[in-house]
Amino acid sequence: MVKKAVIPAAGFGTRFLPATKSQPKEMLNVVDKPLIQYSVEEAVLSGIESIAVITSRGKSSMEDYFDRSPELEQFLEEKGKIDLLEEIKRISSLAEFYFVRQKKALGLGHAILQAKNYVGREPFAVLLPDDIFECSKPCIKQLIDVYSELKASVIVLGRVDEEGTKKYGIIKPKQISERIFQVEDMVEKPGPEKAFSDLGILGRYVFSTEIFDAIKKTEPDKRGEIQITDAIRLLLETQPVYGYLFEGKRYDAGDKLGFIEATIDLALKRPEFSQRLREYLKEL
Ligand code: UTP
Repeated sequence: MVKKAVIPAAGFGTRFLPATKSQPKEMLNVVDKPLIQYSVEEAVLSGIESIAVITSRGKSSMEDYFDRSPELEQFLEEKGKIDLLEEIKRISSLAEFYFVRQKKALGLGHAILQAKNYVGREPFAVLLPDDIFECSKPCIKQLIDVYSELKASVIVLGRVDEEGTKKYGIIKPKQISERIFQVEDMVEKPGPEKAFSDLGILGRYVFSTEIFDAIKKTEPDKRGEIQITDAIRLLLETQPVYGYLFEGKRYDAGDKLGFIEATIDLALKRPEFSQRLREYLKEL
């Protein structure tokens, strides 16, 4: 039922400077593939067939990455590197890709608005590539299933500590079932004193198309950015929004330390690195 996804990837990645001075944060390598590929594969495993990446100047390496590479493919074929050849071809056929430019980094809400014409009148998924989710059922599929049941927008929630209330949007919840909460209100990075709960909003969403009208009505914040949290608050005035406490593990790879943790954990899960890396870490 949800067949389209939007991956906003037009930001400056300032937390990652200088690495992101001349390359997209979304193309930074985690073990052996770029950050954005984790979101793309999660979407595809969840039944998404078409993906719009919101991009900006200087980030065309993402377009090349998900395109065919005839010279490289020919080279690998001539060298008999068939496994690599298959993998390279697989990446370009993961989904149907669209690239939409956000001309100025005016915030996540504004980035999502750039996909309005692409989305048309269907519910759609949004995946922030900074977040890597390791879940037995893909995180966005968990949300899509809730959308199918409740026919309303769903955002992913995680339990956060005091530090987390300074980093994430926090919801005022009305519990519906073990993992589903109706969102009564929300506030961006309130800090521990003003937080309604310990339920933080992470980087996966399924939206009904009415979110676009809400974004259009959203005023820019103090920094001049249109925040998706503010748009969701407006959406709440016209229709219910639910939060889903996902099952699995999430890495905040948009942050330098979170990125290092993700790299170590995901490398430890790979049979070819696991034992040597474990031994190496013990020696430190
Ligand atoms: P972030 O805030 O994590 O990314 O936004 P950022 O702005 O690139 O990074 P910092 O905070 O400066 O280090 C989450 C996602 O939304 C995209 C980013 O590219 C990232 O993937 N984004 C953000 C946009 O596409 N446009 C924007 O205006 C802002």
